[in-house]
Amino acid sequence: MPDAIVYESNTGFTRKYAELIARFTGLPCYALREAERSLEKGRRVIFLGWLRAGKIVGLQKAQSRFSIAAVLGVGMRAQTPEALSDLKAQNKLASLPAFYLRGGMDIQRMSGINRLMIKLAAAIMSRKAPKDDPEAMESFDMLRNPKDFVSRENLGEFLEWYRGIKA
Ligand SMILES: Cc1cc2nc3c(=O)[nH]c(=O)nc-3n(C[C@H](O)[C@H](O)[C@H](O)COP(=O)(O)O)c2cc1C
Repeated sequence: MPDAIVYESNTGFTRKYAELIARFTGLPCYALREAERSLEKGRRVIFLGWLRAGKIVGLQKAQSRFSIAAVLGVGMRAQTPEALSDLKAQNKLASLPAFYLRGGMDIQRMSGINRLMIKLAAAIMSRKAPKDDPEAMESFDMLRNPKDFVSRENLGEFLEWYRGIKA
């Protein structure tokens, strides 16, 4: 059984999911930096990290220090079976329970290289996004206007898995 939740969040959406899970499970919740200081090595944890160019940020660090019971990747794209299979393939998660969650996008809360990368992506999309593709247009809109998709409903599959291991 996992005995803590550990997360890595840049603009706060992953933290919101981690806090929701903490509320549902009653487990303590730590930011990765905090966990490195206050959780013993080898503890069994549920890890959540935000997605940056397909990779779950902080996962390698968390794996080197803790025993991972499940991984949740949080990104801006829609919560679909394809998003989950890409997450597993790009982060080599075949052998771990893995979940994809839709977080959001808030460029105001970004800085440095991350903000620059999103601005570049927005500039490219403004030229290339096909106007008749609703998903592409939604992504483009999100790069300019803050958007929050965090919800309890999005955690449904994860909570089902959690109830299963507790039973
Ligand atoms: C540089 C950069 C790269 C990103 N790459 C992806 C990606 O590959 N897939 C995705 O779904 N979201 C991507 N995103 C969006 C973030 O994962 C999304 O905003 C997430 O909710 C951020 O979580 P946080 O608030 O916990 O930092 C990217 C964001 C930035 C800044």
